[in-house]
Amino acid sequence: MRTSVVIIGGGPAGLLLGQHLNRAGIDNVILERRTRDHVLGRIRAGVLEIGTVEQMRSVGLGARMDRKGFVHDGTIISYNNDEIRIDFAVHTDRSVLVYGQTEVTRDLYEGRDADGAQTLFEVDNAVIEDATTDAPFVTFTRNDQGHRIDCDYIAGCDGFHGVSRPTIPAEVRREYEKVYPFGWLGILSETPPVHDELIYANSDAGFALCSMRNANLSRYYIQCDASDDPASWSDQAFWDELRRRIPGAYADILQTGPSIEKSIAPLRSFVCEPMQWGRLFLCGDAAHIVPPTGAKGLNTAASDVYYLANALKRHYLDADGAALAGYSERALARVWKAERFSWWMTRLLHHFPDQSAFDHKMQMAEVAFLKSNAEAQSVLAQNYVGLPY
Ligand code: FAD
Ligand code: DHB
Repeated sequence: MRTSVVIIGGGPAGLLLGQHLNRAGIDNVILERRTRDHVLGRIRAGVLEIGTVEQMRSVGLGARMDRKGFVHDGTIISYNNDEIRIDFAVHTDRSVLVYGQTEVTRDLYEGRDADGAQTLFEVDNAVIEDATTDAPFVTFTRNDQGHRIDCDYIAGCDGFHGVSRPTIPAEVRREYEKVYPFGWLGILSETPPVHDELIYANSDAGFALCSMRNANLSRYYIQCDASDDPASWSDQAFWDELRRRIPGAYADILQTGPSIEKSIAPLRSFVCEPMQWGRLFLCGDAAHIVPPTGAKGLNTAASDVYYLANALKRHYLDADGAALAGYSERALARVWKAERFSWWMTRLLHHFPDQSAFDHKMQMAEVAFLKSNAEAQSVLAQNYVGLPY
């Protein structure tokens, strides 16, 4: 079998890249290790930057998103009972769209179906061969049979635990990592959101986030021990802890109900340089991870895809290879800014187990500065809505 671009990973990065290529008439095959239902069932990101939104529209998949997504022009940052509203409309010409990753992924799979593009699910043992030659190929097993696809390029969109990044030899790869000493316990509940904007709350008891999916579906997170077992957190214990961490005015009106999903995510900052090796290009979580505090994970995957899709289009449609050669440098320039913002938000809003009284005072002073300074609010707003591509 032969195709122009083999895309390893059918998560949001691989699917969005595939959709860009389909629209440009560039042949591609997606190899996904799990089933489609498994990929569609993963509850993850909830906030889309305008750049991600515009890409979905540009690949012909904006209709459901524009109908069902919620435009947000601001967000709340709180510390105990004190709160600051960050007004995106005042500080930027952008807003964000609350539309879940599950919906984005569903729209992308439906678009791929409509285009008749090939996706192979339950693919095992994918191996990238000869990436530094002009005849790379990928081997894999499926239904106990061995397969090989020859191609021009390989897009490694297979997430943090995929095979693409480790294919780059250790002596070429530079990895930068920070693991945070806590996780996020998240629940989904069929209750109305406590507020019509997101609330990022720090408190003496730690961090909490109030988010949503729609008028009767709420997504809440609380900082927890990374080693906690979600099953050991009863719904009641979750709601009690959330109430302690958000301002009293919201705690008083919080509507609770049974959780329909409960999971713990670890928090990590990670970047791999370079994001390309020969004819292999990394996109999204395969190359970098951010802690979720700034809502940048999915959005940074999307900005990588934007750069790679454009570079591939210039190569195939305009015979211009320069953009492909510059992909890693271009993508990393934006990745590092998203890393900085996510790290800063994480540091501002969490209780660190080893934090001293001085560290605590610094955090409070930073919140107080943010509250009193319009330029500081503007910096937060610009980063949150998404830096330009
Ligand atoms: P992924 O979504 O990881 O997709 C990679 C795909 O590759 C997967 O479908 C996987 O099955 C497949 N794959 C892996 N290995 C192979 C292989 N060897 N062969 C074939 N296929 C393979 N971001 C936010 O902004 N907000 C959040 O609240 C948030 N919560 C998160 C919670 C969790 C538990 C995780 C893991 C991430 C979360 N993120 C969040 C980050 C966000 O979901 C990711 O940044 C986003 O999914 C990245 O998309 P991706 O396509 O690069 O990677
Ligand atoms: C959601 C997750 C985030 O990490 C975030 O910063 C904002 C929203 C969410 O799941 O809704």
